[in-house]
Amino acid sequence: MFTPYEIIRKKRDGEALSKEEIEYFVKGYTSGGIPDYQVSSLLMSIFFTGMSDEELLHLTRAMMATGVIVDLSDIPGCKADKHSTGGVGDKISLILAPLAAACGLKVPMVSGRGLGHTGGTIDKLESIPGFRTKMSIEDYKKILKKVGLVMSAQSDDLVPADRKLYALRDVTATVESIPLITSSIMSKKLAEGIDTLVLDVKVGSGAFMKNIDDARALAQKMVQVGKLYGKKVAVYLTDMSQPLGREIGNWSEVVESIKVLRGESDVEDVIELTVVLAAEMIALCSGENISNASERVRNALKSGAGYEKFIEMVRAQGGDVSVVEDLSKYPKPKIVREIKASASGCVTSIDTFKIGVAAVKLGAGRLKVGDKVDPVVGITVLKKIGDKVSSGDVIAIVHANEENIVKPVTDEILSAYKFSDAKPGKQELVKERIA
Ligand code: URA
Repeated sequence: MFTPYEIIRKKRDGEALSKEEIEYFVKGYTSGGIPDYQVSSLLMSIFFTGMSDEELLHLTRAMMATGVIVDLSDIPGCKADKHSTGGVGDKISLILAPLAAACGLKVPMVSGRGLGHTGGTIDKLESIPGFRTKMSIEDYKKILKKVGLVMSAQSDDLVPADRKLYALRDVTATVESIPLITSSIMSKKLAEGIDTLVLDVKVGSGAFMKNIDDARALAQKMVQVGKLYGKKVAVYLTDMSQPLGREIGNWSEVVESIKVLRGESDVEDVIELTVVLAAEMIALCSGENISNASERVRNALKSGAGYEKFIEMVRAQGGDVSVVEDLSKYPKPKIVREIKASASGCVTSIDTFKIGVAAVKLGAGRLKVGDKVDPVVGITVLKKIGDKVSSGDVIAIVHANEENIVKPVTDEILSAYKFSDAKPGKQELVKERIA
């Protein structure tokens, strides 16, 4: 018989855990038999001492086994998904999933909530009034079949272990761990019923992997696990040294995504990355060359077919389509405050971690398990790396509902920006592709 204490001690001291010990912990936590404090302790031990490949596989399997592995073989077409390791302002999934579906792929997407300083697709989608992210497997399949895409949270049926572990990691500073990120992402992706997977591994100050070597190591682990399950996986290492797009926040990121899908926005980085990743999804499924696939994605964007798919998905998942169609109907934050540059020069760097933390403090993320996120708070980033700024120019806008948080958040955002007389080199959005 195991005890949590013995297993935590073993991992704390850097010993490898057996398959049975890992299963005991994962099952015990999911069923409520092992409390948060012991699991937090094990997570922190894993954070510091890591896991072997064998342990990682046992952990991923044990997490998947807490729910069902969805069988989508009765739904025709290639089932393709994309997952990001997490970033600030990363709303790519909201745009990419409907575009990929408009191009004929079936996109079953199980996503997460905010994690640490990064935002989460599920919190963003839930800012749409009425939008349901929890559903039965039957409804998940029905929506996928009908619409061509479904965007779901983890549930009692779908990797419940990740739902609980993810929420705990969010508030215990145990996110930036290669085995914990790999098992979290791959357990969801392998359970949701996909044939192919595109992974967007973020690198930079706003990512969990701050340097390219760590990002490569994470990418390789995820590819390894995917291959063991016979999935076609491609990984892109992409830049997260500054926020993606302009908006950081739940509803504001939905709005930015809707505007991209309607052709009303010029956020180049968001559009470029969406096209690259969606084209890879098509190429992995059909073998089509990337340039044809990119053209198809761009056409789906231009023609409005992606926007139509988004609307169809919102309707199918219970969301209020009238708010999506008329964005002015949505409630506004009480406070909108401009942040002005106190120096002149070119923006040379943005500490994107600080910006993400500032958004969490505004209420866009959680400080403890079970906190409610505020859909309307957030940050608009007006100046990005390479932009010229004069003292007094507005570099960002804070959207808040509480006055007392505005000053500390403003100070944090200002301290995140660095200026210099020299223009920095261009940031490569896509750094590497690993297959
Ligand atoms: N996305 C996930 O689903 N899990 C992680 O741990 C990080 C990003």
